[in-house]
Amino acid sequence: MPNDNLVVIAALARKGGSGKTTLSRALISAAVAAGRRVLVIDTDSTGVLGSWQKRAEATGFGSPLLQSVSVESVGAVDRKIEQVYATGSADFIFIDTAGVGAEWSDGIAVLADHIVTPVMLSTSDFDVGAQTADWFEKLKSRVDDPDHLPRHHVVLNMVETRSTRADASLIEAAIKRFPVIETVMLRRNVYKEMDEKGLLHAVALQKQSDPNPLMRPHARHVVEALEEATDILNNILAA
Ligand SMILES: Nc1ncnc2c1ncn2[C@@H]1O[C@H](COP(=O)(O)OP(=O)(O)OP(=O)(O)O)[C@@H](O)[C@H]1O
Ligand SMILES: [Mg+2]
Repeated sequence: MPNDNLVVIAALARKGGSGKTTLSRALISAAVAAGRRVLVIDTDSTGVLGSWQKRAEATGFGSPLLQSVSVESVGAVDRKIEQVYATGSADFIFIDTAGVGAEWSDGIAVLADHIVTPVMLSTSDFDVGAQTADWFEKLKSRVDDPDHLPRHHVVLNMVETRSTRADASLIEAAIKRFPVIETVMLRRNVYKEMDEKGLLHAVALQKQSDPNPLMRPHARHVVEALEEATDILNNILAA
């Protein structure tokens, strides 16, 4: 049966290292923790997200709800989405991209329902974030059907818990300039652990059942990260 509720989310940015893969992993963790079936389409030639999923599954930090495929062209992404839609085999598709040129971005963009761009809190990252926002605006003039373009969302990333005055004014500037999601992504060691191990809820469960009772309270940090990711996902879907 076709899944009319299928949601396709693509992480895109005109700069490498801004947190696309980390944000994707966090949102995937949130979707799976909510019991949704997720397919990851890896278009990054290094296959980072696909290998993360396979490693997580092999070490008990994955989920039967999470699958991944690697593809090498926009056409193949399109066919995969069509197939998932037609068979109803997933509720979410996440597309992770490398820091790529405009052509490939256009191709992916028109296939997604939502584009998420992580932007780190620094002046130079803002400039690149602005380029991504401008690219998205201009996309409207390049496509046949601008009314059916995805929604664009910017997620502020690597935000410190104790934000400085400089951070506060950058956040204010970001809100004026980009379609910023209300919930920011904090800089968290848990996100590094998610990278190393797998899905956030699986990491939390492991900590909760740690044979060493002193380690168990650490699960709280993972649960907080999962809550942050769930908020961001809900914000994206509500838009
Ligand atoms: N919120 C965060 N907290 C802690 N570390 C983070 C956070 N966001 C990103 N990082 C770290 O920053 C580095 C770059 O992040 P990531 O790989 O997600 O970026 P990317 O945009 O996917 O990069 P690329 O363009 O190379 O694919 C990684 O080491 C990641 O662990
Ligand atoms: Mg990446």
